[in-house]
Amino acid sequence: MPLPLEGIKIIDFTGVQAGPACTQLLAWFGADVLKVERPGTGDVTRRQLRDIPDLDALYFTMLNSNKRSIELNTKTPEGKKILEQLIREADVMVENFAPGALDRMGFTWEHIHELNPRLIFGSVKGFAEGHPYSDLKVYENVAQCAGGAASTTGFWDGPPTVSAAALGDSNTGMHLAIGILTALLHREKTGEGQKVAVSMQDAVLNLCRVKLRDQERLERVGYLEEYPQYPKTPFGDAVPRGGNAGGGGQPGWILKCKGWESDPNAYIYFTIQEQNWAQTCEAIGHPDWKTDPNYATAKARQPHIFDIFADIEKWLADKTKFEAVDILRKFEVPCAPVLSMKEIAHDPALRALGSVVEVEQEKRGTYLTVGSPIKFSSFTPTIKGAPLLGEHTDEVLAHLGYAAADIAALRGKQVI
Ligand code: COA
Repeated sequence: MPLPLEGIKIIDFTGVQAGPACTQLLAWFGADVLKVERPGTGDVTRRQLRDIPDLDALYFTMLNSNKRSIELNTKTPEGKKILEQLIREADVMVENFAPGALDRMGFTWEHIHELNPRLIFGSVKGFAEGHPYSDLKVYENVAQCAGGAASTTGFWDGPPTVSAAALGDSNTGMHLAIGILTALLHREKTGEGQKVAVSMQDAVLNLCRVKLRDQERLERVGYLEEYPQYPKTPFGDAVPRGGNAGGGGQPGWILKCKGWESDPNAYIYFTIQEQNWAQTCEAIGHPDWKTDPNYATAKARQPHIFDIFADIEKWLADKTKFEAVDILRKFEVPCAPVLSMKEIAHDPALRALGSVVEVEQEKRGTYLTVGSPIKFSSFTPTIKGAPLLGEHTDEVLAHLGYAAADIAALRGKQVI
């Protein structure tokens, strides 16, 4: 059966993480993704954080699977001509260069649109066009700071903190993928291509919407009842860092389990769900809390919520995180073990689901990567290896009509 995006040709003029994550997702779903890379060097991540000398780093292979690669110097007249040929026959082109870099090469949106009015042009920048910082180069953590994530993450007595999750990079790529697919559907109706732009700041902010909610609540009522600061510590005029407090109306915290003294991940996340309070009391051996006026309602519990969490930790003291979750799940307590990356890498359930997959990579052998987080009923994306630098240069040029002698000449002039 053909994959859903089979026949969609994508020029992947991207690097590092945000752009490659977007095009990789589309490649998994069947698009023909051609990575255009600088001759001799290619995507900078091929060489970053290498674990095996001279081989493409995992940083590259884990973001560029299922793609092809052409080496092409798009600053030379011959290289520009080839890129123009590729644009004429593509459906989508994606880029995430520094602001102005593509324009300097001569590939403005107007020129691209003129070359192929049906083409969807996807672009990632740190800040949106028209923003006062739109000239800035941006990496992951810069975006997390500008999008509201850092100021609201961490503990109240510590500095702003960035998340390990790639909210600025891969998250922006996912937003762009949604935009590109929407534009493809729009093209089916109108025949017209369009530019789809996503800024990393906006993509981070989109995931921080509950913190914007909290800012508005804070300005109206002067406090945030679900934050650990309430009611003892006064609030300032901006949303504070709330540690591990739950972001919704249900209090929660990360609690110690058996072995926490030596295992940095011997913890669970425990949520006190209001509608499940009676069952929660049963689960943790405190049936008396169901009717005790100091415990029976969320309002009564709030002033001493951390004493309650401390009591629950006493109950957890002789249980591993897995044993605790196995008990709590029977009482419908929303909870999970804090899983280390080692546990995730070796988790048989994630392997069986295809969420963690082993991939065969030329020269490297087998390595572990993430599979599609989106599960479809009619197909299962197959994750393949990433291309070697320029692996498909000759094949692509031959398709464009270049004879072997022309290709050799281009190679001699270092265009490819
Ligand atoms: N042939 C010839 N030149 C090429 C080329 C090719 N195939 N591919 C890239 N180049 C050139 C660019 O045109 C640019 O040249 P210029 O500076 O002379 O105009 C140069 O290589 C470097 O471009 P860029 O990839 O943007 O690298 P950078 O090191 O200057 O900046 C970032 C890297 C990530 C900071 C920057 O690209 C950026 O801010 N991107 C937008 C936001 C983003 O995606 N951030 C990263 C998230 S993972």
